[in-house]
Amino acid sequence: MNRLKTSLAKIAFKNPVTVASGTFGTEYNNFFDINNLGAVVTKTITKYPKHGNPPPRLVETPSGMINSIGLQNPGLKVFCKDQLPEYTDILDDTPLIISFSGSSTEEFAEIASFLEKQQGIAGYEVNVSCPNVKNEGISFGVDPESVYNVVRLLKKVISPEKELIIKLTPNVTDIAAIAKAAVDGGCDSLALINTLIGMKIDWLSGKPLIGRGFGGLSGPAIMPVALYNVFKVAQAVDVPILAMGGISTYQDVLEFIYAGAHAVAVGTANFMNPMTIIDIVNDLNDHVEENELFIKDLINQVDLSN
Ligand SMILES: Cc1cc2nc3c(=O)[nH]c(=O)nc-3n(C[C@H](O)[C@H](O)[C@H](O)COP(=O)(O)O)c2cc1C
Repeated sequence: MNRLKTSLAKIAFKNPVTVASGTFGTEYNNFFDINNLGAVVTKTITKYPKHGNPPPRLVETPSGMINSIGLQNPGLKVFCKDQLPEYTDILDDTPLIISFSGSSTEEFAEIASFLEKQQGIAGYEVNVSCPNVKNEGISFGVDPESVYNVVRLLKKVISPEKELIIKLTPNVTDIAAIAKAAVDGGCDSLALINTLIGMKIDWLSGKPLIGRGFGGLSGPAIMPVALYNVFKVAQAVDVPILAMGGISTYQDVLEFIYAGAHAVAVGTANFMNPMTIIDIVNDLNDHVEENELFIKDLINQVDLSN
């Protein structure tokens, strides 16, 4: 009996734990069999290669870190030729979710059409945190109409058996309004949260410690914010949620499940110890076995009574 099993709308997970985009690659298979994860999510890819932002790109902060990688990636074609087979060679029954991003609504659709011709993909996590070149560079993810338009177009391109997950940015006034726009557009599920914009300055020289001046804050420091956002979105819409933001223990996973997550992703904690994620899966399994629980029964069961 598998007490850990869960699912998004179309993807069955043997356990609720996957990896956060940009924090994981096939090299983790040198540490543990990555087929023990609920699913695998790739680093975001874009149509053309990206060299990323100027260094330094990472700085530690209290209980977290700020990154400004700038979506460095080899581009769609090289990814499909070189990296995708590395994933599909290793993965057996573990679903592979491809993260991608575009700089215009049409580009999102173009990338999806290309990916649709590839084998071994269970679904897509669409990163809408990037600038929209046709809307003065304003991020897609902060504008409900842009999100709606991207999702509507992607729905036409993506085959019905594949999961369409929209990954939301927390850098908005009302994340539930963006979530509703994505659901109205026809997404299958939502992923949240991406990083929170943050900054760190060298107090002596006055220089920012990130090359671009600022970046995305992640790690345990953001977990309470992520948890509230997941709770808020779970109250507002009726699609499965893949939650992330600061998870480093199995207890953190349970908090997110109670708040409304169907599955969770671990990101920054992978950098602290590459075995963290597999420890989380094992600890979670021990917990549900000892307490005779089923993860599915705990989803969205936060007890709000006094
Ligand atoms: C170094 C680094 C690179 C990231 N790259 C991406 C990315 O390519 N695409 C994306 O959607 N999110 C990216 N993220 C955000 C994570 O997927 C995740 O949403 C966020 O870090 C919160 O989870 P965590 O606190 O467990 O890291 C990145 C985060 C980090 C730390």
